Amino acid sequence: MARRRRVGVLISGAGSNALALIEAAGAADYPAEVALVLSNNPDAPGLAKARTAGAPTAAVDHRPFGKDREAHERALNAALLAADVEFLALAGYMRVLTPAFVRAWAGRMVNIHPSLLPLFPGLHTHRAALEAGVKLHGCSVHWVVEGVDEGPLIGQAAVPVLPGDDEAALATRVLTAEHRLYPACLAAAITGKAMAAQAEAALFNPVSE
Ligand code: GRF
Repeated sequence: MARRRRVGVLISGAGSNALALIEAAGAADYPAEVALVLSNNPDAPGLAKARTAGAPTAAVDHRPFGKDREAHERALNAALLAADVEFLALAGYMRVLTPAFVRAWAGRMVNIHPSLLPLFPGLHTHRAALEAGVKLHGCSVHWVVEGVDEGPLIGQAAVPVLPGDDEAALATRVLTAEHRLYPACLAAAITGKAMAAQAEAALFNPVSE
């Protein structure tokens, strides 16, 4: 088997997706190991969960950096490089990354978003789905590019919107799907299978014929 890639997971909050990645990486044949769970929020509950699950953790509080987002990200980068991180998975990281950071990790950084992109980018996706009256909702894993929630898709999982759903019920259903989708998509991205699938789709896209 090829060498396991050292993945850094960036979080800001609950960290349930980070935990799903740590658990997946517990399997010897998973192509990645979680080298660091890193947060901009020292009080993120996900940090404690990750530590309990045996993953190294660190925090670089964004607040002392004020408006200097690039300086905060340089400090994040230093923590990532110190842990020999080769690939990044954003998992509920709630700050928009600067173009410099995105460029530095281009082709090595993926994100999970709680909607079937390109529907409902941005925040409050479950509320937006309920307001739009869609019958199908879900989550997407995509490559990170400078435009927020705009990168090429790696994979999606759909869940039904059921009568009587409120935001919380729908969020819980989507989150369960996220925990299955993210490990699968991270593995595909790391092993190059996501790129290959995308290239094939581009080749056979009837719209571009
Ligand atoms: C998830 O819904 C994820 O898609 C979004 O933020 C939420 C993070 O949840 N980006 P958790 O911190 O992984 O539990």
